[in-house]
Amino acid sequence: MNKQQAGEAGNNKETAKRPLIIGHRGAAGEAPENTLASFQLAAEQGCDMVELDIHLSADNKLVVCHDATLDRTTTQTGLIRSMNYEAISKADAGSKFAAAFSGERAPLLEEVYALLPKPIEINVEAKDSYNGALDEALDAFLQEPGRMERTIVSSFDHKLLARLKARMPELRIGLLYGAALIAPAAYAGLMGCEVFSLHPHYSSIDAEDTAEAAKANIAVFPYTVNEEQDFLALLDKQVDGIITDFPGRLKQLLDRS
Ligand code: G3P
Ligand code: MG
Repeated sequence: MNKQQAGEAGNNKETAKRPLIIGHRGAAGEAPENTLASFQLAAEQGCDMVELDIHLSADNKLVVCHDATLDRTTTQTGLIRSMNYEAISKADAGSKFAAAFSGERAPLLEEVYALLPKPIEINVEAKDSYNGALDEALDAFLQEPGRMERTIVSSFDHKLLARLKARMPELRIGLLYGAALIAPAAYAGLMGCEVFSLHPHYSSIDAEDTAEAAKANIAVFPYTVNEEQDFLALLDKQVDGIITDFPGRLKQLLDRS
């Protein structure tokens, strides 16, 4: 999907964009975040894209997990970077959410790509560069056929994104930020490379930001939006996608509007 198509797909009104439904950590409101069960549920609920977070294991595997440690989301503890994936895969990443999800794991990134059907795009949020080791692992990962074109890599680390874009000119990158920047689209222009999307905290953007981004042909995908009143406010601001823990909830709202 190119930039024009992002946000235009499925438009049913001339004045209102139908934003992409982007499942945050899968469908983290209804399943344990960043597990295969969560991604499966997001797909079943009709998302266009999933967002997920990655870290690097001691054996340089790309592991899907929000935190740098297993402590919060699994029944085990430990720093992902200091553990081999075999040990990480033994941690139960489901039962803290609900007993019914017992046995879910922190998956490898490749498992998510294999699970989700092709039309579903994948927003990979890089949490840490690990001194460049993640840059290398992600580059190798995305070179495999069929992966690059369905991927947007986002990060709060914009220098990491610039390095990735220099290594992989065809990669789509998305700038994550939480502050109410004065001119986000102009800031994107300072990156020195093409920026595909802005990923602001939803409370920090206004209609001028989205209009300026549209002029610069940059998509706007705010995070993390879960309530109907906030969905509606962002529809008014003509965003191109919405990152939500409840993709099913957003789908229902879009289908009836
Ligand atoms: O990518 C959007 C959002 O996931 C960024 O924050 O902490 O949920 O990864 P966080
Ligand atoms: Mg994230």
